[in-house]
Amino acid sequence: MHKTTAIYPGSFDPPTNGHLDLIERGSKIFDELVVAILRNPDKDPLFNVSERVAMLEALTGHYSNVRVDTFDGLTVEYAARVGASSVLRGIRALSDYEYELQMALMNRRLQPRLETVFMMPAEEYSYVSSRLVKEVFQLGAPIKDLVPALVEQRMREKSSK
Ligand code: PNS
Repeated sequence: MHKTTAIYPGSFDPPTNGHLDLIERGSKIFDELVVAILRNPDKDPLFNVSERVAMLEALTGHYSNVRVDTFDGLTVEYAARVGASSVLRGIRALSDYEYELQMALMNRRLQPRLETVFMMPAEEYSYVSSRLVKEVFQLGAPIKDLVPALVEQRMREKSSK
């Protein structure tokens, strides 16, 4: 039988409850879901790539059809390397749509056979982004319910260093 593999690419710095919600939804509709962390040397991340891999592996270990990987270069080329036919992306609000549409259409131009599949996270996460989580945390606000407890703990460990 034909197996459907999707990649879920992103920065995941840090993984949020919105990301986890999407992984759960994606794990139900694809046979295999690869959470693919972009290795981007230009950015100044809060967590390095190995720290993000470790967190995501711990947070997704209970899904038998989800694995965590890293990539650099083009998403479409990475998708081809792992045999994925779809790219999973989350759309929270209308504001995400324009950027996501641009990426989806560019990826389609680069690789017409690769489909982008958009899913909506639960509405309680519709305003949660890694960027805002980092910002409010650094300014001393609570981030409970926005990120998994493990991520909150790792963020505390970082800020106490
Ligand atoms: O979590 P993010 O930062 O919104 O994820 C963006 C990501 C990783 C999906 C995007 O930057 C990407 O696909 N980068 C890889 C390089 C690439 O393929 N660029 C062209 C995409 S149109």
